[in-house]
Amino acid sequence: MSNHYNMPHLPSSSSPLVTIKVDGKDVQVPGDTNLLEALQAVGIETPHICYHPYLPVSGNCRQCLVEVEGPRGMGLVISCYTPVKAGMVVATPASSQRVKSTRKAVSEFMLVNHPLDCPICDKAGECTLQKNYMEAGQNESRLRGEVGKHYHGNPDNEFVDSKGQTRGGKRVDLGPRVLLDEERCVQCDRCVRFMRHVAGDEQLQLAARSDHTYITTFPGEKLDHEYDLCVTDICPTGALTGKYFRFQQRVWMLSRTPSVSMDDSLGANIWIDHNEGHVWRLMPRCNPEVNRSWLSNTSRLAFEKFAENRLPASDIESVKLALQTQGKVALVAGGECTLEDIVALKMLKASLGDRAEIFVGSFRPVVAADGIAKSGDPVANRAGFKLLGLAADNVADLVKRASEFNTLMTINNDLWGDDAKQAKALEGIENRIAVAAFNTETAHKANVVFGVNHWSEVTGTMVNCNGILQKLSAAPTAPDAELIPTFQALSTFAGTPITEALEAFKIASKEVPVLSGLSYETIRSTGAKLDGVQA
Ligand code: SF4
Ligand code: SF4
Ligand code: FES
Repeated sequence: MSNHYNMPHLPSSSSPLVTIKVDGKDVQVPGDTNLLEALQAVGIETPHICYHPYLPVSGNCRQCLVEVEGPRGMGLVISCYTPVKAGMVVATPASSQRVKSTRKAVSEFMLVNHPLDCPICDKAGECTLQKNYMEAGQNESRLRGEVGKHYHGNPDNEFVDSKGQTRGGKRVDLGPRVLLDEERCVQCDRCVRFMRHVAGDEQLQLAARSDHTYITTFPGEKLDHEYDLCVTDICPTGALTGKYFRFQQRVWMLSRTPSVSMDDSLGANIWIDHNEGHVWRLMPRCNPEVNRSWLSNTSRLAFEKFAENRLPASDIESVKLALQTQGKVALVAGGECTLEDIVALKMLKASLGDRAEIFVGSFRPVVAADGIAKSGDPVANRAGFKLLGLAADNVADLVKRASEFNTLMTINNDLWGDDAKQAKALEGIENRIAVAAFNTETAHKANVVFGVNHWSEVTGTMVNCNGILQKLSAAPTAPDAELIPTFQALSTFAGTPITEALEAFKIASKEVPVLSGLSYETIRSTGAKLDGVQA
């Protein structure tokens, strides 16, 4: 079943501007979108629950009401499904008591049978119901204590609590990663639309009618999909929660660092949410040109291993000594290297002269893009290597030419972990140095190891497969304060230490014309498109 016809049309820089009257004043708004987006573009926030910019509009929550002038005068409409038209007359709560009171009534209606769970609800602090209550609700309770609440849900999951009240299902296991609290669901059907239209695998449904409606999977089936945790992001309430994050942290305790997931060349934009040096979750960071609001489970749950199995800070001199041994050196960089790391890699190569050669790539195969938030190429910064003048996929050549080399330095590249069979050919290179964040299979094969910061702990840049320059920011979560970023390690091995990422970026921007004029400040949070650059 598909109804893509009502995907919202979002405003862009090329949207034609039209004049409409809002609360008695003429304003210019994008003319090719819905009223909710158009009002937002001029700074007027409209509370909404079921609307999501990357899902088809279903218009079921009625929270986004405004008044629009029609043939019979001003009338209430849902702004999320009302197209903008030049000359339209709109009233928001700023000028319309009717809009104010109906929004308040909708808010009251949604909360009347909603549990008083906020103190124990994982969504508290980032819950749309709470936000809307503050903006559009603030009702005195009109609930009669002796009547109590009527909790809805699947009759099979009902239970009677210690006060004798019949309750809806509280910990309904939908699948391996997601739990449902039926009482907190407001039937916005965002989760249903996500699975149907984005995941492309309809695994959730609204069952029953009216106030008996509840979210469920098909009989005997589970919610189990590579993107299923996205439903916990877009659920406006605490109805859907990820098992990994339940009761771990109050969200207001978390600090957020904007970064980029370096496990794939699309470079999904992420928030690294951390507290007291510990990463608690990765969340998608909305970028309309990259991953929109989505993040795969693999990228999202990778954080669980960020602090595990790490290499400690190591002795620089032992690496320098190992590089001084006679013969040829193969420097083999992996896709997690930032542009700044690549600048330092080239400095290291230059310091070793003709006896060093750079190889780039991975033994992991490139697979098909999933069309959601992954390109399928595990070499995240492949376009960045190319931009800085390096062949970005020549590890297979190294396998063939292994006998030419006396020293192998792997840089953020777990060749043995990725494909031990192919890496076997490299075991003939006696002198092996591993520069890595983790104590990988490749580190086990090395005679010298050098621990560095993981990509989540560094500032830097990468170029994604579509030629978008994106910025990583350092989360203060390194398990060992002595660890240094890869660019600092490589430039120090080269004898010309760079301690600030920006310094390395400046070198890159001098070398590559398309980067000139860009700085960390001018790279927008959604990145900077580099003309003519692609992976
Ligand atoms: S979903 Fe959770 S945080 Fe939001 S109003 Fe309900 S109980 Fe409170
Ligand atoms: S579970 Fe969440 S996303 Fe799904 S319908 Fe209920 S409130 Fe909406
Ligand atoms: S946001 Fe418009 S009806 Fe739900």
